[in-house]
Amino acid sequence: MTGALLRATGISVHRGSRLTLQPTDFLAHAGETIGIYGPNGAGKSTLLQALAGLLPLASGSIALKGQILGRELPPLAYHRRIAAVFQQPLLLRGTVGHNVGLGLALRGVGRIERQARVKPVLEQLKIDHLADRNIATLSGGEAQRTSLARALVLEPEVLFLDEPFAALDQPTRRRLVQELAVVLRARRMVTVFVSHDLAEASILCVRCLIIDAGTIIQEGSPQGIVQHPGTRRVAEIVGSDHLWDARTNSGQ
Ligand SMILES: Nc1ncnc2c1ncn2[C@@H]1O[C@H](COP(=O)(O)OP(=O)(O)O)[C@@H](O)[C@H]1O
Ligand SMILES: [Mg+2]
Repeated sequence: MTGALLRATGISVHRGSRLTLQPTDFLAHAGETIGIYGPNGAGKSTLLQALAGLLPLASGSIALKGQILGRELPPLAYHRRIAAVFQQPLLLRGTVGHNVGLGLALRGVGRIERQARVKPVLEQLKIDHLADRNIATLSGGEAQRTSLARALVLEPEVLFLDEPFAALDQPTRRRLVQELAVVLRARRMVTVFVSHDLAEASILCVRCLIIDAGTIIQEGSPQGIVQHPGTRRVAEIVGSDHLWDARTNSGQ
């Protein structure tokens, strides 16, 4: 064993009559943040949801620390070891503190321990001053910080982030990404980060997968892929410079 924390082997997903994820391998080690980048409809969310055990697989298997999901590792046990944040914060009524502690409460963690665990995470995400605020009064950035806190407080082994900043304005987004990079560096989990912004992915990820039409078409560092796209399609997707030249030459 190479000690992969999360490994998928030949996973594919059918939606309707189509294979929206072609058989795909995926490997991540503890402490790694892996970017998934590609155009709209490429299959980024499908891959993330498949890895998170949220979609039935047409083929293949997923293993966490060598335990195969659905075999040695029951789905409920898997879901207790992972957490996910999506583009739209899924917050319930109540305060920030209540929302962040909710997952712990559902896992049977008592009030005193909950408070002790929630506080440092609120501090890390710079929302400790908002602990008693009703979530209905939050800005988009504050709401997404709350969603991240709610996921991180669970101390997941794998954190799935599906375009968590896409709905935010650019300055808020840049700040949050930079702060998240610091938060993630201090942890030993795997983070799977879907983005349609490669600059954003390059702040968080050393390794990035480029996906197109349900297939991973290149893998490498975000900078390496931009500088050396393996195919014309990758160059188109990552917007490499020579294509920019080609577009200007063609008069567009
Ligand atoms: N619930 C669904 N039912 C059928 N097709 C879907 C569903 N969700 C997504 N798809 C299709 O699967 C493909 C990949 O979608 P998705 O993974 O959401 O792409 P991305 O996240 O890269 O924008 C798209 O062609 C999309 O239309
Ligand atoms: Mg998506």
